[in-house]
Amino acid sequence: MKLWKKNDFGFALFSRDFTAAFALNLPVALLLAIESSCDETAVAIVRGSVGQTTEVLASEIHSQIELHREHGGVVPELASRNHSQHLRGLVEKALADAGVRMEEIDAFAATTGPGLASSLLIGSTAAKGMACATGRPFLGINHLEGHLLSPFLDRTSVPPHVGLIVSGGHTLLLDVEGPGRYRKLGGTRDDAAGEAYDKVGKMLGLSYPGGPEIEKAALGGDPQAYDFPRSMLHEPHLDFSFSGLKTAVLYTLQRETGVLPLADLAASFQQAVIDILVRKTLRAAEETGRREIALSGGVSLNQALRNAFLLAADREGLEIHLASPVFCTDNAAMIAFAALLRYLAGKSSPLDGDIHPNLPLV
Ligand code: KG4
Ligand code: ZN
Repeated sequence: MKLWKKNDFGFALFSRDFTAAFALNLPVALLLAIESSCDETAVAIVRGSVGQTTEVLASEIHSQIELHREHGGVVPELASRNHSQHLRGLVEKALADAGVRMEEIDAFAATTGPGLASSLLIGSTAAKGMACATGRPFLGINHLEGHLLSPFLDRTSVPPHVGLIVSGGHTLLLDVEGPGRYRKLGGTRDDAAGEAYDKVGKMLGLSYPGGPEIEKAALGGDPQAYDFPRSMLHEPHLDFSFSGLKTAVLYTLQRETGVLPLADLAASFQQAVIDILVRKTLRAAEETGRREIALSGGVSLNQALRNAFLLAADREGLEIHLASPVFCTDNAAMIAFAALLRYLAGKSSPLDGDIHPNLPLV
């Protein structure tokens, strides 16, 4: 088995020959990462090496959902102030849970975009401060890369595949050659899938965030009760659009009199989202010739979506990688993993680098 493999980060990733990696003294690195791009403050510590399954030694998350719930969505200033209140405690807890001292950490990472500027600044400034204090490197990580690679956290390599990120802010279909080598195949032209879930949840009178609430409401509902549109399904490109679906639910609600058939509405909306996501991903696999697909991001926590993908992959003979449920919604382990791959390839980021609220992945 070849030990060194060239990739866009440089050299040095992914041999399955673990023993050989140690015999050659390839580094075993300990990384601490912070995620604070939106409404979750998260800190994780991971340990990994070439060809080794990454160990998540600690993954702490403080969710701000309750704080923002009464406003029906994330309030940026409240979010950043809350990150700054909780971050230190989470770092201390992560170090204690992992059983390591700050001085033992080889590199510090943080999400530097995309996300809310004032929130990104809290995490990245803290990680830079720790890097400065310990004299260790800092790595700025793209939040979307964290999601994209999260299905492979428990594996020894990232194979060529089609990756679908479905989160509150993004719906992105990518051709992944390997770590750092991504080609955009399609994205949403309006709302992200999670955003559609959240907006429809609001229309249905459910609490924020709408995704998990709609999933619950849909249980026992008839997914065929309403024939909601599957926008752009038959168009030749691989882009998505969810605003028509959202409007169709709104018009249906305006026409409904009497008791709201909540379960049927939720199930029918969810089925439309699932059909769009599954069909476009299968088409992307067909067009690229990839035989593996991966699903990540907050919406990929949805069990009905996971089941539909598992069934479709089985039917088409594709290998499917689903992010573990604990790493679907925002977390720092996925940021630490993306950072680990870069660190092992000899990369780091300048301490005077900025955050980028609209940072693209490709
Ligand atoms: O990845 P994530 O935590 O944050 C972003 O990067 O956006 O995703 C949050 C999104 C929200 O829109 C939320 O409603 C959605 O993920 N979500 C779900 C479920 N759990 C979270 N959507 C559908 N079903 C779920 N079970
Ligand atoms: Zn996210």
